[in-house]
Amino acid sequence: MKMRFFLSVLLFAGLTAGAQTKITFNTDLTGPRINKHIYGHFAEHLGKCIYGGIYVGENNTKIPNVQGIRNDVVQALKELKVPNLRWPGGCFADTYQWKDGIGPKADRPKMVNVWWGGVTEDNSFGTHDFLDLCERIGAEPYLAGNVGSGTVKDLSDWVSYVNNPGGSPMSELRKKNGREKPWNVKLWGVGNEAWGCGGNMTAEYYANIYRQYATFMTDWDNNAKLYKIASGATDGDYGWTETLMKNIPHKMLAGVALHHYSVLSWEDKGPSVDFTEAQYFKSMQEASQMDEFITGHSTIMDKYDPEKKVALIVDEWGGWYNVEPGTNPGFLYQQNTMRDAVIAGLTLNIFNNHADRVRGANLAQVVNVLQSVILTNEEKMLLTPTYHVMKMYNVHQDAALVPINIESPLYEFQGKALKAVSSSASKDESGAINISLTNIDYSKAHEVVINLRGESFARVSGQILSAAKIRDHNTFENPQKVSIKSFSGAVLDKGILKLVIPAYSVITLKVTK
Ligand code: AHR
Repeated sequence: MKMRFFLSVLLFAGLTAGAQTKITFNTDLTGPRINKHIYGHFAEHLGKCIYGGIYVGENNTKIPNVQGIRNDVVQALKELKVPNLRWPGGCFADTYQWKDGIGPKADRPKMVNVWWGGVTEDNSFGTHDFLDLCERIGAEPYLAGNVGSGTVKDLSDWVSYVNNPGGSPMSELRKKNGREKPWNVKLWGVGNEAWGCGGNMTAEYYANIYRQYATFMTDWDNNAKLYKIASGATDGDYGWTETLMKNIPHKMLAGVALHHYSVLSWEDKGPSVDFTEAQYFKSMQEASQMDEFITGHSTIMDKYDPEKKVALIVDEWGGWYNVEPGTNPGFLYQQNTMRDAVIAGLTLNIFNNHADRVRGANLAQVVNVLQSVILTNEEKMLLTPTYHVMKMYNVHQDAALVPINIESPLYEFQGKALKAVSSSASKDESGAINISLTNIDYSKAHEVVINLRGESFARVSGQILSAAKIRDHNTFENPQKVSIKSFSGAVLDKGILKLVIPAYSVITLKVTK
């Protein structure tokens, strides 16, 4: 009877299911905590991320704002539960002179943003503006220090400016600029991409530089020790990680970064919307490689740090395509389709399942740049499919990972194959299990059978992000085209959950006792 019902659900949905996905969640065995910081975001002085996307100026009467920061964007980011926000770069961070971004705005020196479009940076959005934004959205700030072109003293002073309670020249300067109490910023990047735009250093040289800069980054509040993150490898550069883990004393190293973008090729990244299946498949190959890279870097880290004290922080990830036609090539503005939704779902499942070592990550970037969760156009704002996935998955923040065994059918294309369905689950404080599932298949739905081994559950509810077409996306004219719907297609019977996950879609389920 139950099976007949299940099959009729399949037929009703009008779906041709591929091979079965078999999953077991060991609900009585809890794994490590999924650190909420895995769900972090990134805001660089790049294109229209800060200027236009977040900050529109104090005198703007057209776009509702408080002290120049857009109210609509603040509201959307609050609802997303952003745990941390990385700023001011990226490549820009290693050119940034933080002292040019404090004090009366009219007096602030200007600079040229050499990495991103050669535009003039007037420094009207600086440290106070960023830290106020973080307070408003309830996110922890993650400051990326300038190691490539700034001095040890510059970075040491920045730490003192934001964290020293009083009595230092920097804390007095902060107070003079209107902020009495320190912000107590805990998360600090010591440079960015030191192997490239951050100074073209060798790993050995950077490891020494890291030790030097980190030494003068003082813990002004002993209760909130600084969490220092070394500029990490890109993709599979395991030698970089090995050198850092070997040469930097672990007591001065909280995390090592990793960057990996899903990019077709650096020469031609392909269109963000009108992609072919070949381009889609390559994007999925690239996104799936995150698992291999995390495993590779973690294995090296295990050699030097078997207790897993040093975290792997994937502080840049996401899909990277050609810019939208007619936009500034240096601004990295791209649309966001169901391809991006499944990249997000797949990647977050990978992060969750590596929660023992991956304890932070930052999607690049939050507004109007690369795989954004928000796009703006003057006073208009829209939430992208990626926003919806990040929101559906935020149930995992700080919950306990539930160990998984999964057998997935394959998504095959021209003789190559990838696992079509990925999943992860966590147990929250009430004992409910939240399960997330992503199907990257270009055209096939897949039947999913989940064995909830260990404990008994009575009820299931769910949400789905899917669309009629894989290239569907939200526009300023039709901002709700892709949005979260409730999902009642999961059947729970005697500890077994059955459902069909449509092609290129993301589902989250909550099972309760
Ligand atoms: O996110 C865009 C750029 O990509 C960042 O500035 C840099 O760190 C990376 O190469």
